Amino acid sequence: MPSAIVTGATGVLGRQIVFELSKNAQQWPTVHALSRSKKESYPENVIHNHIDLTSSADDMAKDLHNVRGEYIFFAAYLQKDSEQENWDVNGAMLDNFLTALTKTGAIKDVKRIILVCGAKQYGVHLGAPKNPMLESDPWLTDSKWPPNFYYNQQNILHKFCKEHGKEWVVTYPNDVIGYAEGNFMNLSTAIGIYALVTKELGQDLAFPGSPDFYTKFDYFTSSKLHANFCVWAATEPRTANEAFNVVNGDAESWQNLWPRVASHFGLRVKPDQFANVEKGSESSEMKLAEQPPIAEQAQNLGLVGHPVTSQSKVVQSIDLIKWSQRDDVKKAWTSVADKMGLQKEALEKATWGFLGFVLGRNYDVVLSMSKARKMGYTGYADTWESLEQVFGELSAAKILP
Ligand SMILES: NC(=O)c1ccc[n+]([C@@H]2O[C@H](COP(=O)([O-])OP(=O)(O)OC[C@H]3O[C@@H](n4cnc5c(N)ncnc54)[C@H](OP(=O)(O)O)[C@@H]3O)[C@@H](O)[C@H]2O)c1
Repeated sequence: MPSAIVTGATGVLGRQIVFELSKNAQQWPTVHALSRSKKESYPENVIHNHIDLTSSADDMAKDLHNVRGEYIFFAAYLQKDSEQENWDVNGAMLDNFLTALTKTGAIKDVKRIILVCGAKQYGVHLGAPKNPMLESDPWLTDSKWPPNFYYNQQNILHKFCKEHGKEWVVTYPNDVIGYAEGNFMNLSTAIGIYALVTKELGQDLAFPGSPDFYTKFDYFTSSKLHANFCVWAATEPRTANEAFNVVNGDAESWQNLWPRVASHFGLRVKPDQFANVEKGSESSEMKLAEQPPIAEQAQNLGLVGHPVTSQSKVVQSIDLIKWSQRDDVKKAWTSVADKMGLQKEALEKATWGFLGFVLGRNYDVVLSMSKARKMGYTGYADTWESLEQVFGELSAAKILP
């Protein structure tokens, strides 16, 4: 029976891969979970090892001397301030880790390496993509685009696998719904805090993103579904040397989800929530890349001059960073946290800029699952149910009531 090695084992996506593998101890008798910190107790078939992926391959090899496995899941990620730093650091972490496995000799056992990337593959952070996004869409490698660390990681992976006769799989999840202990960087925490404070202030729940995006489509990825996909793709013969979008399989929009969020927290949606966006001092607007990714394909698609090829923007009807710094908001959160015994630092640590971006875009974000389906993957997750489950996990962790 094979063993697995998972890097980023405490992260939103990696942690779930560890749990998905460990569920089936007969098939996966040994799962090596690697990260700098150890945040939770694991099932019996999981062995946690310390590793610092920013160290040299020689140093890592010392930490890895007892670590062997046929399947490697690389879900580690270090966020840096600039895209160039992300390129350098995240590329080096993967490169040095793979080199360390050659130094210990563990590479001999390896059959397949699964690398977790994301929908930034298509430049969804830069503006409107071509929808639905397909794995065969061109990479944005022209010098006019900022460096994309996924391209560096995938190039490193492809080259390494070619040289060592190994197989690879890459995943592209989008807007992940998941939870990891001590990690406040997820949509669900910020949405939950926003709703609780709104309730404490006695207000109706106003969507803080853009009126445009409220009625557009977004495709989400449950961290559980993603883990299930990774484990399936690791051993499925047809998926060798292929990259896959991994999204829930339902089409979602905030016009559908927001009223459910409101009702989950005992609120109602503010009926005229976008009435004051234009004049509101609370709102903000940020322009994205000069041209959106879809402009790259405008010629072939017959979209030259079409409005979708003009610069995309992020509009927040309530700018969430400013909102989280308001005195009345801080006071309301302290009061909620005191009453309910919640973690007070959650307001400060939650990723308001990220949520503002995700809710404020003015374009659809639709990823096709056809490639995975054609190869036999049948997994599906309901986005609202995934969100509700994560609210439950946040509640158990005393971040939400
Ligand atoms: N979360 C999302 O919404 C989302 C969406 C699409 C794509 N993705 C992509 O998915 C991948 C994983 O992201 P994630 O959100 O799961 O990340 P995450 O929650 O921030 O977790 C990162 C993991 O990497 C580990 N790590 C960081 N630096 C390390 C180091 N120097 N040495 C060893 N381990 C290190 C962390 O553990 P320690 O700190 O304990 O070392 C943690 O386990 C990334 O490529 C990300 O871009 C994420």
